[in-house]
Amino acid sequence: KKPVILSTDPGIDDVAAMTISLFDKEIDLRMIVATWGNVELKYTLQNALGLETFLHTRVPVVRGANQPLVRPAISAASVHGKTGIAGYEFKNFDQSLLKPGLAATLMHEEIQTSPEKITLMGIGPLTDYALLFKQYPEDLAKIEKIVIMGGNIGHGNHSPFAEYNIAGDPEAAQVVFQSGIPIQVAPLEIGNQAHVTSEQLDRVKACGEVGQMLYSMFANIHETDGSNQIKIYDPTAVGILVRPDLYTFKPAHVEIELAGKFTAGASAMDFLSEQPNAEIATKVKTAEFADWFIEAIKIANEG
Ligand code: BDR
Ligand code: CA
Repeated sequence: KKPVILSTDPGIDDVAAMTISLFDKEIDLRMIVATWGNVELKYTLQNALGLETFLHTRVPVVRGANQPLVRPAISAASVHGKTGIAGYEFKNFDQSLLKPGLAATLMHEEIQTSPEKITLMGIGPLTDYALLFKQYPEDLAKIEKIVIMGGNIGHGNHSPFAEYNIAGDPEAAQVVFQSGIPIQVAPLEIGNQAHVTSEQLDRVKACGEVGQMLYSMFANIHETDGSNQIKIYDPTAVGILVRPDLYTFKPAHVEIELAGKFTAGASAMDFLSEQPNAEIATKVKTAEFADWFIEAIKIANEG
């Protein structure tokens, strides 16, 4: 099993990614850091606790950053709804899941006490990982790799050039991309390729209580790109971790635009560079991905 720390901003697709990660037989989820992101921290934290209580899982949840390192926070409430999960309401919130302390310190302790190297997975703004790397640079050597949902090869979803998670905290993303640890990226394009079709949505709905919970969120995503396609970006990062065979990767050197007036948060992915710092997924086998995704929801439902 791979020991994993997840940083997430639930968020509809984050809920799906968390659900899969909590039950995947290859993932040993050690900690869930809830960060500001799609909506404010008070909601993302509540959603993380509500989901785990619903699923009867017991992975410690940690309170992450409540704002970006430098810039004012942005919001994706127009897509995910005010509380981040399309108006869905979890009934119970087991507060004993919440581990008190600072996210960077708690991650540091986990990384240093773990006999195996830890894999990080980032499916929200990367604020907490940047704080960890700055405060505890000695941890970098004990990190296996980081898998990120974020960035874009072509057009962005937050702005013409920037994807939401990177645009949310460009300075943090730059710290992560310059950290020297192995990085694998599921950019926006992969989530677009793997969008949920209406036939797949019906299959999700058929996966018991867990399927219905996800269905009611997916069906109420408010996509702002005018496409009508339901996009569930974050599970494509989980897929990279457990089903890399479904993806095509290309090495690239990634820098995050910090100065641009119209381009801030753009992920400049140079596929021609001879000094790559990341592997970018450029293609996913969509039918097989959907089968894996729906099977994973079934497994989560069986508990
Ligand atoms: C990313 O932004 C968020 O809205 C989603 O949860 C996903 O992590 C996609 O750009
Ligand atoms: Ca997210």
